[in-house]
Amino acid sequence: MESKYRILFVCLGNICRSPAAEGILRRMAEKRGLDRFITIDSAGTYAGHSGDMPDRRMQNAAYARGYLLTHRARQVRPEDFDRFDRIVAMDDNNYHNLYRLAPSRQASDKICRMSDFFREHPDWTYVPDPYYEGHEGFELVLNMLEDGCRTMLDQVALMFATGGEAQKNP
Ligand code: 4NP
Repeated sequence: MESKYRILFVCLGNICRSPAAEGILRRMAEKRGLDRFITIDSAGTYAGHSGDMPDRRMQNAAYARGYLLTHRARQVRPEDFDRFDRIVAMDDNNYHNLYRLAPSRQASDKICRMSDFFREHPDWTYVPDPYYEGHEGFELVLNMLEDGCRTMLDQVALMFATGGEAQKNP
């Protein structure tokens, strides 16, 4: 079986930003024929929404762009640092909380920011929390996530085109 690149998206509640990123990356990967090369999941640093479907406002905004969000919220677990190659934080809070949770230096090396992958949002260093925002907040988040996911997929395509098992953590 082919080795897969395993990506975990992390936000606070796991009902808005990270399940949207998961749904977007999965759909984009399917469209580009790259889905067999990646495993995608999402989680939250906060457990309060565990078991919930994505926020209805995010489900609707994502669906309008062709993304079906079916994830059930869960909290980040220590074993996620073994199960994934990249752990992608949406904002500074998520990033620092993940650092606190990381069981080793090797584990913390897997943490990065979604904004590291932005090409069309160069002035942003985080994905803003849309929970208390209106419709425009959700649209902005989706624009950012599409931007970052496109870059991620370009990197995955390159990684597997060059047989890059050894470059899993570039
Ligand atoms: P998310 O958004 O971190 O993108 O899933 C939020 C969801 C819930 C809450 C905050 C942000 N909350 O306070 O319950």
